[in-house]
Amino acid sequence: MRRKVDPFEYLIETERLLKGDGLFLVSAGKDGKVNTMTIGWGLIGTIWRKPFFLVAVRPSRFTHHLIEESGEFTVCLPARGMEQALEFCGTRSGRDVDKFRALNLTAVKGFEVAVPYIAECPVHYECRVAYKTDLKPEALEEELRRDCYPAGDYHTLYFGLILGVYAEEDARDRLP
Ligand SMILES: Cc1cc2nc3c(=O)[nH]c(=O)nc-3n(C[C@H](O)[C@H](O)[C@H](O)COP(=O)(O)O)c2cc1C
Repeated sequence: MRRKVDPFEYLIETERLLKGDGLFLVSAGKDGKVNTMTIGWGLIGTIWRKPFFLVAVRPSRFTHHLIEESGEFTVCLPARGMEQALEFCGTRSGRDVDKFRALNLTAVKGFEVAVPYIAECPVHYECRVAYKTDLKPEALEEELRRDCYPAGDYHTLYFGLILGVYAEEDARDRLP
């Protein structure tokens, strides 16, 4: 049974995963096409007096197109044993493959957003894009520009207002 928890209840686990194999970023477009990709960069915290999950998505990702369409996303914390799925979702594009079908993942409509979450993931965030901005190369320090953007494809930063965080009862036992 998935229940709503405090927005920062899984802050430590979320940050640990962001430094490791990553998280699933799920999105869906207007036509209902569902997709997920792996993210390794993100920030969770407070701004404008509200809880936010910031994700950085390059325009070349299919996910970018879907978030632009829906204005919503979910972020799912993987369960132990989902490392190969994270690898697959971080190297294959939803333009070419239905990742949910290929990996036998279950998409379930969110409680507060139309975008689904992944049932096999024990914790998920539901977010609405409250602000977005394209990275301005000239405003980024030289070293980061060189290290992270040799081919351009500068991220769009999506500030996702956290509408809800939902967790399974046994979530802490199932996280990596
Ligand atoms: C561990 C890991 C972390 C990643 N983090 C990000 C990220 O934060 N932002 C991003 O744009 N791409 C990131 N990627 C790359 C995307 O997951 C990858 O390009 C994916 O195939 C895009 O899928 P899509 O075209 O279906 O959206 C990451 C990949 C891996 C393996």
